[in-house]
Amino acid sequence: MITRDDVSKTVHDIYEKITQESFEEGDMLINALHAIQDHYGNYIPLEAAEALKELTGLPLAKIYEVMTFYTMFSNRPRGKYVIRVCKSLPCHVSRGGEVLDALKNKLGVDFSETTEDGLFTLEESSCLGLCGVSPVLMVNDEAYGNLTPERVEEIIDTLVTRERSDEE
Ligand code: FES
Repeated sequence: MITRDDVSKTVHDIYEKITQESFEEGDMLINALHAIQDHYGNYIPLEAAEALKELTGLPLAKIYEVMTFYTMFSNRPRGKYVIRVCKSLPCHVSRGGEVLDALKNKLGVDFSETTEDGLFTLEESSCLGLCGVSPVLMVNDEAYGNLTPERVEEIIDTLVTRERSDEE
């Protein structure tokens, strides 16, 4: 179990590193949140926001506002692979519904849920800016377009196979 002190120390170390990398001041908070989220495996513990408040001098409300504005940030634990499915109209009308049904069936979870093995979390997203190759989804930072129900099953199978071989 992680304690408030553990989180505080971790955030302090991460923030110190970020400040040495000469980002624009406005990017500092975003970069720190990214690094904290990567450290904790796809989520930001709420205690981290409090530690950031001390380090940055920003109001807690401002830090929460940034954390909740960007859908890439989460304050609840998520799977190793966060799958963000575009639910905007161009994707929806190009077989997006079928693709989504296939994905939900394959994973056995709905939106905002994580598979029992902790590998996959399913999230919905608005336009991912790749409408030319709709329907589209992202797995962490990687985009997949021109999807079909068969293709999404292949993508999941590939990731599961990769995880199993990493375990061996
Ligand atoms: S509508 Fe889906 S990527 Fe733009």
